Amino acid sequence: MTTTDNFLLPIALDDRSPVPIYRQIYGWIRDAILAGTLRPGQRVPSTRSMVGHLKVSRISVLGAYEQLIAEGYLETFSGIGTCVARQLPDDVLEPIQRVAPSVDGPRSLSRRAEAIRQAPVESGLASFGAFRVSLPALDQFPADIWGKLVARHARSQSRAAMAYGDPLGLPAFREAVADYLGASRAVRCDASQILVTTGSQQALQLCAFVLLDPGQRVCIEEPGYPGARNAFAAAGAELLPVPVDADGLDPAALPDDPGVRAVYVTPSHQYPLGITMSAARRLALLNWAESHGAWIVEDDYDSEYRYGNRPIASLQGIDTRERVIYVGTFSKVMFPALRLGYMVLPRDLVPAFAAARDAADIFPATLYQRAMTDFIREGHFGRHIRRMRLHYMERRRLLAELIRSRLPGHLEVIGSEAGLHLVAMLPEGVDDSAVAKAAAAAGLSVIPLSSCHAVRPSRGGLILGYGGINDAQIREGIDRLAAVLA
Ligand SMILES: Cc1ncc(COP(=O)(O)O)c(C=O)c1O
Repeated sequence: MTTTDNFLLPIALDDRSPVPIYRQIYGWIRDAILAGTLRPGQRVPSTRSMVGHLKVSRISVLGAYEQLIAEGYLETFSGIGTCVARQLPDDVLEPIQRVAPSVDGPRSLSRRAEAIRQAPVESGLASFGAFRVSLPALDQFPADIWGKLVARHARSQSRAAMAYGDPLGLPAFREAVADYLGASRAVRCDASQILVTTGSQQALQLCAFVLLDPGQRVCIEEPGYPGARNAFAAAGAELLPVPVDADGLDPAALPDDPGVRAVYVTPSHQYPLGITMSAARRLALLNWAESHGAWIVEDDYDSEYRYGNRPIASLQGIDTRERVIYVGTFSKVMFPALRLGYMVLPRDLVPAFAAARDAADIFPATLYQRAMTDFIREGHFGRHIRRMRLHYMERRRLLAELIRSRLPGHLEVIGSEAGLHLVAMLPEGVDDSAVAKAAAAAGLSVIPLSSCHAVRPSRGGLILGYGGINDAQIREGIDRLAAVLA
């Protein structure tokens, strides 16, 4: 049984009204029941707490409750108290005018909202099985260490820690992130350039808001990350897809248009194809941005995990002209529900992004930033990544090997040995959406490559995640996929 006993009903009484106080209380509770704000079975405050809360006489409250009980809105149970009647008579409910949802969906949406409403929703988001993308090995996460750190900070929060904070994020955490990025990703920055975000999705949203007016143009990779497409579309930007080939996004294909404000790229591990952008292309891209006065948004979402060769340094690290906005996330190296990400900003953009963050949600919640600072500084983070790298390397090897041995002629693995997912191309003429649908019916979660394209590609493929599944699930998933493709 739910209760309202611990909180007080927001009844506004009018002393000057000709309606008696007991009747006002009666009317408020009755309307709340009819509107569904108070639900059947829900406990209402005792008459005593109502007297104290409303500063009215006991007679008024008793009178209202008695009337409501007499009419069947409330009922009393000994030992429990007074509750909303669990079975309200039909004639009581009849006058409720519930607003039926429009068959055409919500009305009066902005064009920006429409742009993302049309976007395909990633399938299988609720699944934990093969081959759900974007999930790390959640069962391998050192939850006990993490729990202790969170508890330590939750218990010992000072008044300053509980008050409002910096829109850029917690200074100590930003220091830790800057040190980590410098050491592991060759990012050139100090803590003053770090803005802590609610995952990288918010970073993309802030980029769209700060850099683009509605109708202005942004180049995105084709195929590319739907999350980026949605963030820019939601800001009302015009999206220009630029093809990705075996060397990554081709800067020669960027428009010679001073109206393009930004380019979004995933150079270390292109999403979804898994390609690493060549050094020549990186330099060409930086030159193009400089000569066109455009920004580069570098999304470095999973490059901690490279298996075949040494980590690739970030694009930001070779940018000498401060054109790159670097975006990163703890979703893959920790877990997605943490909702912690960060951006590294060119110095002259820091005030504008801080103001945008302040306007959006003022500042990021600090408890997890504190725990994460310790997690990094005490060495747990580095250890966890090193351990996971071995796991994922093994999982990728197994999945790629099974695809090669079990599905030759059906699927061809592409991309570099990195990350938590791989792309396997289907033969020409096979509809990847139809395959993904059939796979879903067989209990699998696979994303059709075409869902990452703005223009339907001539050859489809499947995006297969392996980070969050174990060897047995990979083997069983391949058995099922084989049956689907056969
Ligand atoms: C390309 C890319 N960027 C970013 C993210 C992570 O987003 P977030 O940090 O908002 O969880 C993902 C997650 O799958 C991704 O694929």
